Amino acid sequence: MKKIDKIFSKKKSIPLDVYLEKILYDKNIGYYQNRNPFGVKGDYITAPNISNLFSEMVAIWLISFWKNLKKPKNLTFVELGPGNGDFCLMLIKTLKNFPEAFNSIKIILYEKSKRLKEIQKKRIISKRVSWINDIKRIEEGPVIFFGNEFLDALPIKQFKKINGNIFEKFVTIEKKNIAFFFKEAKKKQINKLNNFNLASGRGIIEYPEQGFNELDVICEKIKKLSGGALFIDYGYNSQYNQNTLQSVMKHKYNDINKNIGKSDITSLVNFDLYKKYFSSKGLYVENIISQSRFLQKMGIIERFKILSKEINEKEKTNLYLRIKRLLDPKFMGENFKVIFAKNKKCKFSLAFK
Ligand SMILES: C[S@@+](CC[C@H](N)C(=O)[O-])C[C@H]1O[C@@H](n2cnc3c(N)ncnc32)[C@H](O)[C@@H]1O
Repeated sequence: MKKIDKIFSKKKSIPLDVYLEKILYDKNIGYYQNRNPFGVKGDYITAPNISNLFSEMVAIWLISFWKNLKKPKNLTFVELGPGNGDFCLMLIKTLKNFPEAFNSIKIILYEKSKRLKEIQKKRIISKRVSWINDIKRIEEGPVIFFGNEFLDALPIKQFKKINGNIFEKFVTIEKKNIAFFFKEAKKKQINKLNNFNLASGRGIIEYPEQGFNELDVICEKIKKLSGGALFIDYGYNSQYNQNTLQSVMKHKYNDINKNIGKSDITSLVNFDLYKKYFSSKGLYVENIISQSRFLQKMGIIERFKILSKEINEKEKTNLYLRIKRLLDPKFMGENFKVIFAKNKKCKFSLAFK
């Protein structure tokens, strides 16, 4: 608890999103600064860890985008939050089967965690890949930003309406334990909620202020350089108004106030809100679709059938179960959604129509 005390510095309380940022990324106690959370031995598994075919389908989507633009000589692909690098490794492998695309697509990785960046640099060795610390430094377009389970990892604010007034969730330490309480929200914050019609909601109102701040720069780049941003994540489409914060450790849900710094904390992505946000920034979102639809439109079943001919029965069953996990509505198929926010001039809409 002593270390956690420090994140409050001299303040008695801090807003929820500031607290989440600290317990995930603080250099002393931050979850992402001192561990590799991925895989069976870690805390959770993401789609690129489940099957290479997931990453292959996104790679095919990217190559189609590049072809649709008449094969530009320089296309920038930026992966946001590349985790343990599984996606990027498979992207490189797939692109190598299309040498012209491979030589035209520059891959840039944007990672906040020092520890994960070290892991990525050890695993990904390619002349086509580089890392940046600041999105503003991206100068060459067209550009595609991509994030799998990136949005859910961005700290959120929470608000609640009490007797017609809006209150914001804050975090404090009470008798050596983390405690939450609500404090009257500032007018500036209420205005932001009003901009997206959120303030009328009942229950808990979630607002990804830090996410929007990060995306502001990305939207500017897309408007200036052309291209778009593709995000895949778990979340919901219509008004939900619930506390969606969740903590996971060793593949099990964990009490949000326990194992601080040793457990991952995320929230469900409000896709409808992100769609409104992208429109407010002058980008265009055609549709929000399920992961199942996206992967099937990109040909994951056909690819499975081809691969099945080359592998033995045991491998085939293993691959089948992995693809089922990605596509089945009871697993990730419907809970995970895909959004593509693009420059208004961009005509590419593969998988979304
Ligand atoms: C849930 S993991 C997903 C990793 C990977 N995309 C995958 O699908 O396996 C979230 C990733 O985003 C990174 N991340 C979170 N917030 C970030 C930010 N603001 N800027 C850059 N990376 C961030 C984390 O460190 C981690 O690599």
